[in-house]
Amino acid sequence: MDAGTAASHVEHVHGKAGWHFLQLPGPTNIPDRIRLAMDRPAIDHRGPESAQLALGLFEDMKKIFKTDGPVLIFPSSGTGAWEAAIVNTLSPGDKVLMFDTGHFSKVWILMANNFGLDVEVQANDWRRGPDPDEIEARLAEDKEHKIKAVLAVHNETANGVCARIPAIRKAIDNAKHPALLLVDTISSLGSIDFRMDEWGVDVAIGGSQKGMMLPPGISFNAISKKALAAAKTAKFPKCYWDWDWMMADNASGFFPYTPAVLHMFGLRESIDMLMEEGLDNVFARHSRMGEATRRAVTAWGLEVVCANPEEYSNSVTAVFTPEGFDADAMRLQILERFNMALGSGLARFKGRVFRIGHMGACNEIMLSGALGGVQMGLEMAGVPIDKSGAKAAFDYLASVK
Ligand SMILES: Cc1ncc(COP(=O)(O)O)c(C=O)c1O
Repeated sequence: MDAGTAASHVEHVHGKAGWHFLQLPGPTNIPDRIRLAMDRPAIDHRGPESAQLALGLFEDMKKIFKTDGPVLIFPSSGTGAWEAAIVNTLSPGDKVLMFDTGHFSKVWILMANNFGLDVEVQANDWRRGPDPDEIEARLAEDKEHKIKAVLAVHNETANGVCARIPAIRKAIDNAKHPALLLVDTISSLGSIDFRMDEWGVDVAIGGSQKGMMLPPGISFNAISKKALAAAKTAKFPKCYWDWDWMMADNASGFFPYTPAVLHMFGLRESIDMLMEEGLDNVFARHSRMGEATRRAVTAWGLEVVCANPEEYSNSVTAVFTPEGFDADAMRLQILERFNMALGSGLARFKGRVFRIGHMGACNEIMLSGALGGVQMGLEMAGVPIDKSGAKAAFDYLASVK
């Protein structure tokens, strides 16, 4: 095999022996079970097999989002599902509250601005999530309820910061404010607990290529009753993303246009795998990997980007390299020497931060290999570290159940 297409992960790919360690915070490793489920001939997307598959997915994705409401599946990357959430619930000129708390949060703000929303931004140093107290104070001031929606990213993949969505919900409720709550779960879904209904989220946005362990290419909108009601009066023009159009066909298992059928076979397998392990066990596994990674980073003497321990992400850890050490040069060295891909620092963190993805199809031994690779890479780059770093992670993993 000279390419990764049909090869299992352990075969030589591009002349390299063993696994390619894909330690990105998405796309993540695609388990063979999912790859094989997708390796099949196309079927008629207007035929009974496709409809039966889709109806099962619509139902079971509710369990992943923990909602009773509809879940829509778009053939797009996660960014498309952001757009769907905006155009179906809001109207041009609507005021919305958003948070400049990291690269992805900022790109969502850019999108909202491009749509002509009146975006009010609460910003911080990108080392913590949105501040529930600040949100409550601002919403309490908005006596005329001009703010139509609060848009937040659950797990900010660029910084490894997991926003406190229940506290944000509480802030909205304390202010007795009717704003919708739209939440990006792209890098938390299937890795970190997310409870759409319990947390009163109105639209949850998801993607396929992270905790769901699929290739990039499908995205999700999970929708509350309140969001469905808002959609009745939302005035943005829409067609491809139109919830009504989609839901009308989804009722019988069909789509208004060609769905990503092979991804849907993969999604069936992904949901089955998550359910077999048990969602709580999946979250506990990620929690162990997150904690082990942070212990290694701290023992190396380096700094985790997330400054608030209450907001540590269990699916990705972003790490500062010390002044004078280029994180990208180190990542390249690690790729070339050890065949491992780490995430880069984004936007204002470019060159200053590297990210260790530990989400999706990843376990303790894979993480241990990855941390060994990071430690060797740090040494090769001449970063002064305490070499007991990886051991701190191993000790923790050995001690925890
Ligand atoms: C939190 C978050 N939001 C949005 C996106 C954009 O999603 P996509 O690249 O699938 O369009 C990403 C991608 O990494 C992300 O991590």
